[in-house]
Amino acid sequence: MNPGMPGRFITLVRRLAESGRLSSAGEYRELLDPDVAADDLETLRQEARRLADRVFGRGVYMRALVEITNRCRNNCLYCGIRRDNRALERYALTPGQILDCCATAYAAGMRTFVLQGGENPDFTCDSVCAVVKAIHGRWPDAAVTLSLGEWPDAAYEAFFRAGASRYLLRQETVDALHYGKLHPPGMSRDNRLRCQASLKRIGFQTGAGIMVGSPWQTLDNIAADLAYMAELGPHMIGIGPFIPHSATPLGGFPPGSVPLTLRLISILRLMFPGANIPATTALATLDPEGRRKGILAGANVVMPNVSPSHVRESYALYDGKSHSGAEAVEGLATLAHELGGIGFEINFERGDFKNI
Ligand code: 5AD
Repeated sequence: MNPGMPGRFITLVRRLAESGRLSSAGEYRELLDPDVAADDLETLRQEARRLADRVFGRGVYMRALVEITNRCRNNCLYCGIRRDNRALERYALTPGQILDCCATAYAAGMRTFVLQGGENPDFTCDSVCAVVKAIHGRWPDAAVTLSLGEWPDAAYEAFFRAGASRYLLRQETVDALHYGKLHPPGMSRDNRLRCQASLKRIGFQTGAGIMVGSPWQTLDNIAADLAYMAELGPHMIGIGPFIPHSATPLGGFPPGSVPLTLRLISILRLMFPGANIPATTALATLDPEGRRKGILAGANVVMPNVSPSHVRESYALYDGKSHSGAEAVEGLATLAHELGGIGFEINFERGDFKNI
């Protein structure tokens, strides 16, 4: 190669850093090249981190994760709380228990509550709205985020009116055939994308994202997800490695790659400078340094678990899911210390999407 001339990878990184976009899925695919030189990858990481520093400084937002139920009508082939997993004790927190979790989180300083759960058939639009209203009424300065799967548009609208302002719903994969392999008949990529579009239209800060290294996923699939998200314009992006769960049909597949997940965090940061991107629990589960590596790759959010300790074991999306130490509200001091070690600190502000 011509010395002094940047190679193709760096050319694309620079273009992405300047404009936030590449022109095709094919170009995103080039950024996923497995054979790229280590120092080119390091350049990508540094560009992403520099941008995150400019937007968020050295603060990391806290989101209190309340796992409100592990009951689920769905049967996603990768997920440990799928309907057919009979080896799981099922629970649903009562509204009172959910409020107690929020109180704990609020007392610890957190100003975002994320209510996440399976698609519990006993939950109605009204029952979800009642909890959201109660939380919003009691802590009007905190943001309520929902992560409760697919609902009709009318329900999303009601959640929004009740006071929820953010909604997390990963597409998992934008490829319809790949989606079909990971999900049971009756679920569809089209409905998932309909939900994401509705959430945005209604006015939610909307979260999208994928599992990295899910079975049968190709680099072309990931490139298609990047191109799709470039069109969608999500405000939050959840991205973590696939981790097998032994009681699921996909339990025999290998886990996703941590380095590829980190590379994607950096690419997504360059695409979405103001988006809230967590260093996910899945990343921290696969690699003891995963959380710190995620922040150093451009993530700006950590989601400490505030679920009652007796249910945490039952919210097993995948094997080995960590829910203690720096991953939990009791471990905030540990987390602060861990972040401090790389020059970061906890930021307890609500941290709404920044339109950069
Ligand atoms: N490995 C990694 N992530 C998983 N999720 C569900 N099951 C797994 C798994 N086996 C993720 C999905 C979902 C989020 C709540 O958890 O991406 O959107």
